[in-house]
Amino acid sequence: MTNKKDSILVTGGAGFIGSNFVLTWLKESGSPVINLDSLTYAGNRNNLKSLDRDPRHIFVHGDIADNALVGGLLREHRPKAIVHFAAESHVDRSIVGPDAFIQTNVFGTFSLLQTARAFYAELSEEEQETFRFLHVSTDEVYGSLGPDDPAFSEATAYAPNSPYAASKAASDHLVRAYFHTYGLPVLTTNCSNNYGPYQFPEKLIPLMILNSFEGKPLPVYGDGKNVRDWLFVEDHCSAIRAVLDRGRLGETYNIGGSSERTNIDVVTTICDLLDELAPSKTIGSRRNLISYVKDRPGHDRRYAIDARKIKQELGWEPAERFESGIRKTVEWYLAHQEWVENVRSGAYHRWIETNYAERVAQ
Ligand code: NAD
Ligand code: DAU
Repeated sequence: MTNKKDSILVTGGAGFIGSNFVLTWLKESGSPVINLDSLTYAGNRNNLKSLDRDPRHIFVHGDIADNALVGGLLREHRPKAIVHFAAESHVDRSIVGPDAFIQTNVFGTFSLLQTARAFYAELSEEEQETFRFLHVSTDEVYGSLGPDDPAFSEATAYAPNSPYAASKAASDHLVRAYFHTYGLPVLTTNCSNNYGPYQFPEKLIPLMILNSFEGKPLPVYGDGKNVRDWLFVEDHCSAIRAVLDRGRLGETYNIGGSSERTNIDVVTTICDLLDELAPSKTIGSRRNLISYVKDRPGHDRRYAIDARKIKQELGWEPAERFESGIRKTVEWYLAHQEWVENVRSGAYHRWIETNYAERVAQ
C-alpha cells in the first residue's frame, strides 16, 4: 500500500502523454503513482523503464472499464486524485475502426466515473475536500476553424468531426454531468497537438522523423495546409499539474502552445533538421521525399487554442518554443533507435500498410 494521503491514480500512463506525465510527476512531486494501463498497441512499458526500481511507481495492467479492478485499486491505495489519460487517440484509426473508440473513450470513461463516484461517496469529508478527477481531453471536440476565426476558447461550442473527436466530446459531457448531478469534483483539460519523446510513430511528427531518417516517402495529406497548434508534451504535463493543484472544480481549461504551423511547415522543418543532424549522401535533401497523398476524410482545417484562462487563473505558460522543442524531439528519436525498433512490431507495419495503401501520391 502506498502513502494514502499522497498517491494519485493515472490511467493510460504507459502511452505517450501519460508516460511523460508519470515521469515528470515523480521528478517534480515525488508522491506515488498507481499507473493503470491496458497496454493496447499504444501502451509501452519501455517508456517507464527508468522507473523499474522506483517503489513510488506501481504499474497495474488492466482496463479502465473493469469496475472491480479499479474499485479495488481505489480502496487499497486511496489516491487523492485520478488523472485520466487512457483513450484510443489516433484520428485515422477512428475512421478505419471506430468501435474501440466508443468502447474506451465513452464507455470506459463512464465506467471510471461510476467507480470514482462510488469511491468518493465512501471518503471522509476531509478526503472529499481534496479529491479530484481530472479528465484529459482534446481541442478536437471544438471542430475546425477557418483561417481568420478566433482561437478555441472554453466557451466555443462543441462540433466534433471525427469518430475520435466525437468519442472525446461524449466523454467530456459525461464528466461534466458527474459534477453537476453527483458532485464529483472534476476538472477537464482540452489540449492542442502534443509532440515530444515517446510518441507512437503513427502520428505526424514521429512518423515524419522516422521516415525522413530512413529515406522513405513523407505522406502529406491533402494540400498540406491544415494547421495545428503544437505543444511540447512536458508543457502539457506542467499544465495538468497546475490544473490539478489549483483549478476550479467543474471548470474546463484549454491548453495550447500558441504555435500554429501548417503541416507542410512542420514536415519541411523536420526534413531540414534531419539533413543537418543525420546527413545522408544516398538520401540527399529530405524535402524531395515529400509526397502529397489522398486527404483524411472530414479533415479539420485548423486548430488554435486561446489559452488565456489557464494563464490568467493559474499562471501557466508553455516553457518550450516550437523551434527548440522540435529539435529536441528529432534528437530524441535519433538517440533512441532501440525504443523505435521495439514499437515497430508486425501490428505497426500492418497499420501503416492499411492507412497508406490507398493514399497514393497525388
Ligand atoms: P496514446 O494513444 O499514446 O496512449 C493511450 C494510452 O491509454 C495507452 O497506453 C493505452 O494502452 C491506454 N489505454 C487505451 N485504452 C485503455 C483502456 N481501456 N484501459 C486502460 N488503458 C487504456 O495517447 P496520448 O497521445 O498519450 O493521449 C493521452 C490522452 O490525451 C488521450 O485521452 C487523448 O485524447 C488526450 N490528448 C492527446 C493529445 C495528443 O496530441 N496526443 C492532445 C490532447 C489530448
Ligand atoms: O489536437 C489534439 C489531437 O492531436 C489529439 O487529440 C489526438 O489524440 C492527436 O492524435 C492529434 O490529432 P491530429 O489528427 O491533429 O494528429 P496527427 O498527428 O494524426 O495529424 C496531424 C496533422 O497531420 C493532421 O492535419 C493530419 C496530418 N497528417 C497526419 C499523418 C499521420 C499527414 O498529413 N500525414 C500523416 O501521415
